[in-house]
Amino acid sequence: MSENDRILIFDTTLRDGEQSPGASMNLEEKLRIAQVLEDMGVDVIEAGFPIASEGDFEAVREVAKVVKNAIVCGLARATPNDIDRAAEALKPARRGRIHTFISTSPLHMKYKLQMEPDAVHQAVIDSVKRARKYTDDVEWSPEDGSRTEHDFLCRCVESAIAAGAATINIPDTVGYSIPEEFAALIEMLFNRVPNIDQAVISVHCHNDLGLAVANSLAALQVGARQVECTINGLGERAGNAALEEIVMALRTRRDLLAFDTAIKTEDIIKASRLVSGITGFAVQPNKAIVGANAFAHESGIHQDGVLKHAGTYEIMTPESVGLTQSNLVLGKHSGRHAFREKLTDLGYDLGDNAIQDAFKRFKDLADRKKEVFDEDIIALVDDEVVRGNDRIRMLELEILCGTAHTPPKAELVLEIDGERRACKGTGDGPVDAAFNCIKQLFPHEAGLQLFQVHAVTQGTDAQAEVTVRLEEHGKTVNGSGADTDTMVASVKAYLHALNKLLVKREKTAPGTLSA
Ligand code: KIV
Ligand code: ZN
Repeated sequence: MSENDRILIFDTTLRDGEQSPGASMNLEEKLRIAQVLEDMGVDVIEAGFPIASEGDFEAVREVAKVVKNAIVCGLARATPNDIDRAAEALKPARRGRIHTFISTSPLHMKYKLQMEPDAVHQAVIDSVKRARKYTDDVEWSPEDGSRTEHDFLCRCVESAIAAGAATINIPDTVGYSIPEEFAALIEMLFNRVPNIDQAVISVHCHNDLGLAVANSLAALQVGARQVECTINGLGERAGNAALEEIVMALRTRRDLLAFDTAIKTEDIIKASRLVSGITGFAVQPNKAIVGANAFAHESGIHQDGVLKHAGTYEIMTPESVGLTQSNLVLGKHSGRHAFREKLTDLGYDLGDNAIQDAFKRFKDLADRKKEVFDEDIIALVDDEVVRGNDRIRMLELEILCGTAHTPPKAELVLEIDGERRACKGTGDGPVDAAFNCIKQLFPHEAGLQLFQVHAVTQGTDAQAEVTVRLEEHGKTVNGSGADTDTMVASVKAYLHALNKLLVKREKTAPGTLSA
C-alpha cells in the first residue's frame, strides 16, 4: 500500500472537451467515451451541462445510468433552474455530483454578469445550498478564479464551504496563470480560508499559454488534490490540461511528485484514439504521451542508445501507456476463433452477430491487404460500430481520376431509406466529384467544414481513415470512415456525418427527415 497522497482525476472531456468548436459528440459516442473513462479508473466524469440542451441533459442521464464506479457530474450555473435540471439528469447515478459555478473576477462580474460582488457572493451561497438539497456531493467553482481579487475569492470560497460544498475547484479559465503564480494562489487559499480543510481543493487549467499541465502540477505540489483534465487536452480554445500528461508526469516523476492516481495508464492510448476518432481532432504527431512520434526514435544515435538500453532515451515505456508492438495479426487463412480472440485482446466485447459481420469484413480486408495489423482491426470494427442504423448507405462507387482536360468523374449508388438510387457527377477532384453525387442524390444545405485523411498503418495498401465535419444551422457533426480505398473511406465518412445530421434534425424538428 502506497503512502503517497491520492490525486482525484476529474475528466471533463464530455463537457469542457465538447465545448471545443466542432467537437460535438452524439449520445452513443459519449457513452462509449464514458465507458472507456470508467474502465480506465477516472474518479469523476463530468458528463455535460444539462440545462444547455436536451442532448446534454440526456447524455448526463444516460452516462449516469451506465457508470458504476466513477462519480458522474453535471454542470450548472448559479441559478435554480440550472441546478434543478442537473439534479434531475443525475437522478439515475449511483454517485452523482452537482458542479455549480459563477464568475468572480472583476471583469466577468462587471461585463458578463453585470452583478455587484455582494450579489455574486449571495448567489454562491444560494446555489450551493440549493444543490445540497439534492446531494452531499457539491462542487463549486469561481469562474475566472485566477483573475479574481484575493479577498473576494477567499470570502466566496469560505462561504461555499460553509454552505456545503465538498469540493472547491479553482479554474484558470482563460489560461493566463504561470505555475509559480498559480501555486501561490492555491497556497494563499490554504493560508487564509479558515474552513479550507473541510473541502477537497481542485484545479481546472486551460492551455492558452501552453501551461495548463504545468499549472495543475504546481497546484498539486501545494495541496490541491483533484485535477480537472481532458483526454488529448481537448477543450475550449487551446484546450484543458491533458489527462494523459498529468497522469504520466505523476507516474514518471514520483521522485518529486509523490502522488498516486487510480488511472490504469495502459488504457491511455485507447482513450486518446477513441476521442480523436469521434471528434475528428487529430492528435499532433509530436504530442506528449499520445502523439504518433512520442515513442519513435528517428536519429541513429538515439536508436543505437535505445537498443543498448531503452532508458537512454525513454523515460517511460510505450507499454505503460498501452502502446504495444504493432502486432502482425491474422492473415486471410485465419479462422473465426482466432479472430474472436483478437477482438477480446483488443478490448472489444461484441455480440455474435457483430462478430460475424466484423469477421466477414476482416476476410475482405485480408484479401486486399497483405498484412493486417491490430490498428486495421480497430479501424474495421469501429467503422462497423459507427454505421449502426444509417438511413443512407453506400452500395457502389466508381471513380475516374482526371487531368485538366478530363475532369474527375464519379458514379455512385446509394441506398436511401431502402431505395436504390444512382447518379453520375464531376468535380474539382475525385473526392469533390463523389461528394457532388451525394448532394445530387440527397440534396442538403450542410457545409463541409473539415476533410481529413489519415493512414491507419504504413504502406500503400494501408487503410485510410477519413474524418468529415458537416455544419448546418450552427450544428456540427463529425463522420468517420475507413477503407483501403481512400475514396470509399471518404464517401463513408461523408455519409456517416450526414446520417448523424439527420438524427439530430429528427430530434430537434421531428418529421423533417427528407432532404
Ligand atoms: O474554465 C472554466 O472556468 C470552467 C468552469 C465551468 C469550471 O470550465
Ligand atoms: Zn473550463
